[in-house]
Amino acid sequence: MRTMIRYGGLAILIAALVVLALLPFASSFVDDWAQRDVELRSQLVFAAAREQIEEMRAQGDAAALDALFGRIAADGRIAAIGLCEGGALTLATGGMPERFSCEAAPADEAAGPSPIALDGQAALVTAHALEANGVGAARLVILHDLAYIEERAGQARMALVLALVAVGFGGAAIASVLSIFILARWRHSVRQAIEDVREGRTEEQGPSDTQIAEEIKGALGELELARRQIDTVHTVWNPETLQVALANELPGSEVIVVSNREPYIHNRKDDGTIQVQRPASGLVSALEPVTRACGGTWIAHGSGSADRDSVDADDRVGVPPAKPTYTLRRLWLTDEEQDGYYYGFANEGLWPLCHIAFVRPIFRESDWRFYRSVNEKFAEAVVAEAKRPDPIVLIQDYHLALAPRMIRDRLPNATIITFWHIPWPNSETFGICPWKEEIIDGLLGSSILGFHTQFHCNNFIETVDRFMESRIDRESDSISLAGHETFVRPYPISIDWPPAALEGQAPVPETRTTVRERLGLSPDIKLGVGIERFDYTKGILDRMRGVDAFLTEYPDWKGRFCFAQVAAPTRAKLASYRNLQAEAEALADEINARHGADGWEPIKLLARHHEPDEVFELFRAADLCIVSSLHDGMNLVAKEFVASRDDEQGVLVLSAFAGASRELSEALIVNPYDAYAMGQVIHRALAMDSGEQRERMKVMREQVEAKNVYRWAGQMLLDAARLRKKERIMRLIDAKERRTDRKGERPTDRRRKPAA
Ligand code: G6P
Repeated sequence: MRTMIRYGGLAILIAALVVLALLPFASSFVDDWAQRDVELRSQLVFAAAREQIEEMRAQGDAAALDALFGRIAADGRIAAIGLCEGGALTLATGGMPERFSCEAAPADEAAGPSPIALDGQAALVTAHALEANGVGAARLVILHDLAYIEERAGQARMALVLALVAVGFGGAAIASVLSIFILARWRHSVRQAIEDVREGRTEEQGPSDTQIAEEIKGALGELELARRQIDTVHTVWNPETLQVALANELPGSEVIVVSNREPYIHNRKDDGTIQVQRPASGLVSALEPVTRACGGTWIAHGSGSADRDSVDADDRVGVPPAKPTYTLRRLWLTDEEQDGYYYGFANEGLWPLCHIAFVRPIFRESDWRFYRSVNEKFAEAVVAEAKRPDPIVLIQDYHLALAPRMIRDRLPNATIITFWHIPWPNSETFGICPWKEEIIDGLLGSSILGFHTQFHCNNFIETVDRFMESRIDRESDSISLAGHETFVRPYPISIDWPPAALEGQAPVPETRTTVRERLGLSPDIKLGVGIERFDYTKGILDRMRGVDAFLTEYPDWKGRFCFAQVAAPTRAKLASYRNLQAEAEALADEINARHGADGWEPIKLLARHHEPDEVFELFRAADLCIVSSLHDGMNLVAKEFVASRDDEQGVLVLSAFAGASRELSEALIVNPYDAYAMGQVIHRALAMDSGEQRERMKVMREQVEAKNVYRWAGQMLLDAARLRKKERIMRLIDAKERRTDRKGERPTDRRRKPAA
């Protein structure tokens, strides 16, 4: 304020000086104007009265002239009017001073007005020559009263002074504001300069520009090194190399896995004892060995009947139960929540929406509300479990599409990697979801969003493009929404290698015998297996129809082949799943009735949960395995079958619509919708000689070994590490730019972004 007054006063002073300097010019301007006004009026009077005056003179009518002069002098601005004839004033109105002399008057109009002082009063006199008209030359003289001119000139001067004062004040105000602004910037620059000097000396107050530049150089170097290491060193992936990669690339980081399904379920048996179950879930098969290697915390829904009895006061339990290496944090859901969130929106809405299996998705507003609130619950659990502000959060699957955004809002520095374990449909299909925007927005809270295949990444990006206002960079496959960038990447999921379930397995010939005995089959019968959850996406009915077609086409195989279908009951609360089981049982009965004879039945339906070692035993006893998914993100059963066959025997029949068919091209690829073709493929598999089986199995095993689940996790974590390093560089560059901005230099381009 003081500055304002100071600068305002100065401006007023300057304005006053300007007014004083301009005043003389203003006076002369007013005088000139007054003279021109007198001349003009004088001319007007003369032009108007000339003819009459000359006529009256010619007629010698002095009385008329006198009357005319009187009327003219009635104008207040004309003091008097008179007639000079032969140098003498012969006629004049009453206002003419007695001492007026015609000699003092100008000779004519061209001479202009002459000033005259009469009785202490300033006046001007003008003269106009009249025609002689035989009565002698004469001049009309007009005496102008300057009092009014003085008065008007005074008014004009005053107006001019006021105008100059107003301009002065206005200028003063503008100058004050400008001066304050300039002073503030100048002070800021001085302070900044002092700060910079100080910062250069004391490191704890923040890095100097040189230090930042050094750090950026260092971080870029690290990044380049990391990239080279990833490409060269990490070719063999196993629990140890994953641990090393994590320790090297993300030192001290905290890993939190989040999924609906838990890796270990504690169930109470009828006899009251507790049994630990490994759920039939591709997600769990993949994530469990990875989490075992990485350590950390896995947050999941506690769905087992004895889960509450197996946790500590903080709802945590160390797992695997035999030798804990990580913490399972259980989250409890009410029946209502489970119905709305899990059975309803996730499994009746999103599951059929994303799998093109011709089951109509059901969307209920009440389910959606539970889906949202349960996602909130998971997000809060992540925040509660996080020991650092920047954990690495691995969010799993379609149950938790909203959680990434919710976690991002609470932990902005977290690195959130979301993996979508099921397919992502095309944008037209996804468009029917009433909450598509919310789901996409939720997922775009992630740092990295992973799908099994590039095809599903493309579908997702197209969906975002169609329904959201965002910036898509197709070169780096990234999407920016509200200032946050998400990288969309394919990470083909896989299994543990060598798989834990292989440990303790009997040799293949022994297993073949054991399993055949258990199933009541003759020792030399050829065995086909199918193992999965009782899910309509898996094509269980279709493969049975394939068996039917095979036996119809090749009846000499009757009695020599059996197809064992293991199907773990799943989501049985839903009619679509219950109906499938009933349908499968009816179809198996029908086919068995059609082809079976003498105690032999072609299809054995085993509708119960099998633990991983039982599954592996079945795989090893089989001659062929059928995976006939109508649509599947990846399908790990196919990879598990390959992994189980260390004897390099057995044939995999694989659906063209499972993601795994892209990697396991040595399988016999089939269209599950074509029963006849399936029958032909079964025949081909049974006829395949051991040499060809070995060739195919070897290549597939190499593929699964190299691209195992540690590689899957390792690539995601290394991408996360690269992203973190790039974010660190961006923060450093931003800090440098802020500094540059403060110093008034031109900032560099802020629009660039890191590529994962
Ligand atoms: C699929 C899903 C997993 C799920 C699994 C088993 O593989 O992608 O998220 O865990 O099915 O289903 P469930 O409903 O029993 O967890």
